[in-house]
Amino acid sequence: MADFPTRDASELQLTASGSLRHLLTLRGLHRDQLTALLDRADTFLSAPGHPVFRSDTLQGKTVANLFFEASTRTRASFELATMRLGGDVLNLDIQTSSSAKGETALDTVSTLQSMHVDVFVVRSGSAGLQTEIARHVDENVSVLNAGESHVSHPTQDLLDLLTIRRRKGSFENLTVTIVGDVVHSRVAQSAAQGLVTMGVGELRVVTPSSLAPEPGCIPAARILTNLDEGLRGADVVMALRIQKERFTNKEGIPDTDAYFSEYGLTRMRMQQAAKDAIVMHPGPMNRGVEIEASLADGPSSVIADQVTNGVAVRMAVLEAVTGSLPQ
Ligand code: CP
Repeated sequence: MADFPTRDASELQLTASGSLRHLLTLRGLHRDQLTALLDRADTFLSAPGHPVFRSDTLQGKTVANLFFEASTRTRASFELATMRLGGDVLNLDIQTSSSAKGETALDTVSTLQSMHVDVFVVRSGSAGLQTEIARHVDENVSVLNAGESHVSHPTQDLLDLLTIRRRKGSFENLTVTIVGDVVHSRVAQSAAQGLVTMGVGELRVVTPSSLAPEPGCIPAARILTNLDEGLRGADVVMALRIQKERFTNKEGIPDTDAYFSEYGLTRMRMQQAAKDAIVMHPGPMNRGVEIEASLADGPSSVIADQVTNGVAVRMAVLEAVTGSLPQ
């Protein structure tokens, strides 16, 4: 599927009264709006071993997961989030859907809308698809961006913010370092937007120059090519996967061993970060490429928390866009 014309997603996603109708990007959302979502998500988290939160706030609502790209975490967490709030969920298998016969994504959405779907959760390798769908759906229907090409992954950033806030309390005094294939990363783009909105102390991006963001793309970040420099004193370190599927020239994909030796996060390298630094990864991970396995599984890793928090954040977002917040 080709990309769609660039439109301003941030203007489309709020109602006239300023409440969230779609979640397409974090651009344009204010700190108090993000904080309200994080606060609400916090209330859905239960202690390990305790029953998960359940309610019927989405009763009578239907959420359709349309994933035109592969996913484990995002798709499963939207499904669980919907079920835990008492809604109906439809997971359309795109490979065996009429997309395979040439039906356009807009026609698929229109067809499902006739079956009274209230929320479309869309992942796509095409930039702009979620915004295009949001422009076409009925007034009472919402669209959530579940990962858009290299452009945006807003619920990933919300779960990252929640994870950081739960571990570190606030953002102002933190140095956050993002390491990896930034040019192809929707996670890096959204993370930067969210962290800056929340007032992060310092944002560093460490990347080989061949994988650096376009100039001005992450304006608030210090862009570095040296990992040791980027890790010095960092409170939060986020490793990113090399997104092989997004390289137009496959010869540009870095050699795995060379990449690990220069940019792989290891326990040894993390000694340069703050003593209580946390290690994050949005997943899926390639162990031994961007992160050492024992670091990913070690005490500083919050990767499992990110996954847990992902369900809570998606519950908060579903509640917000359907106007189902309890009074
Ligand atoms: N982080 C993330 O989006 O993971 P999935 O591709 O498994 O959904």
